[in-house]
Amino acid sequence: MANNLISTSTAATTFIVVLLSLLLAGKSQTFSTSLRRTAMPRGKQNLTHLHFFYHNVVGGPNATAIRVAEAPITNTSATGFGAVIMVDNLLTVGPEPNSTRVGRAQGMYASADLNNMSFMMVHNYVFDEERYNGSTLSILGRNPLMLPVREFPVIGGSGVFRFARGYAEARTYFLNATNRDAIVEYNIYVLHY
Ligand SMILES: *[C@@H]1O[C@H](CO)[C@@H](O)[C@H](O)[C@H]1NC(C)=O
Ligand SMILES: *[C@@H]1O[C@H](CO)[C@@H](O)[C@H](O)[C@H]1NC(C)=O
Ligand SMILES: *[C@@H]1O[C@H](CO)[C@@H](O)[C@H](O)[C@H]1NC(C)=O
Ligand SMILES: *[C@@H]1O[C@H](CO)[C@@H](O)[C@H](O)[C@H]1NC(C)=O
Ligand SMILES: *[C@@H]1O[C@H](CO)[C@@H](O)[C@H](O)[C@H]1NC(C)=O
Ligand SMILES: *[C@@H]1O[C@H](CO)[C@@H](O)[C@H](O)[C@H]1NC(C)=O
Ligand SMILES: *[C@@H]1O[C@H](CO)[C@@H](O)[C@H](O)[C@H]1NC(C)=O
Repeated sequence: MANNLISTSTAATTFIVVLLSLLLAGKSQTFSTSLRRTAMPRGKQNLTHLHFFYHNVVGGPNATAIRVAEAPITNTSATGFGAVIMVDNLLTVGPEPNSTRVGRAQGMYASADLNNMSFMMVHNYVFDEERYNGSTLSILGRNPLMLPVREFPVIGGSGVFRFARGYAEARTYFLNATNRDAIVEYNIYVLHY
């Protein structure tokens, strides 16, 4: 009986010691901490409108949009289903390719609709215009090419665009029917801190 009591209290002591050491260990390396919302003042949230042109160059020696993968049915599919195109496309302030550069669109688009021409867009826009230098916006969305205006959700960002959310509107400004080069006008509306 006495022995049982001693072993019980020993077990309890061991438990407390383990608990304390876990708590102490938790202090030096904490996985998660709840922060006050005031660390991110509501009043300082900005709504920014960006306007630029996206140069999708698929043809010629200086192509910036390159097909990297396909499915067995891609070449016989009416929509090129399964084609994956990797891009590092120039972004400029005006529609001319030689107008002021504002950044690059890096990522990929892939034919994702068996019946109607539509791409899945996965793009990171990296800006180099002074105020936004190095900041990025990430876009993930559906691009039904036949529509005059396509809308993609902005799902996040970095740098000045931390906590970003919003949407992008894309309109084809120019399409070369021969080599499929395109210039696309973008309007992005984004909330960020
Ligand atoms: C490709 O880029 C090079 C180097 O910038 C340039 O000299 C050449 O004119 C470009 N070619 C085309 C077809 O744009
Ligand atoms: C599909 O077409 C592309 C471009 O013409 C070609 O490079 C590729 O080899 C073709 N793929 C198949 C599986 O025929
Ligand atoms: C851009 O190119 C166009 C024609 O391609 C030319 O007329 C214009 O002067 C160029 N602009 C600059 C800033 O180089
Ligand atoms: C696909 O295109 C057909 C014919 O143009 C149209 O009737 C149909 O609604 C479209 N489907 C989608 C999901 O857009
Ligand atoms: C953007 O940042 C890079 C590296 O930090 C720097 O070299 C470049 O001059 C900057 N550009 C502008 C326009 O501020
Ligand atoms: C947010 O808006 C304020 C007021 O217009 C401006 O001073 C500030 O530079 C903006 N911040 C960013 C990151 O755009
Ligand atoms: C369209 O692409 C073809 C083939 O590369 C080229 O010869 C032609 O000049 C381009 N047209 C325009 C308007 O850029």
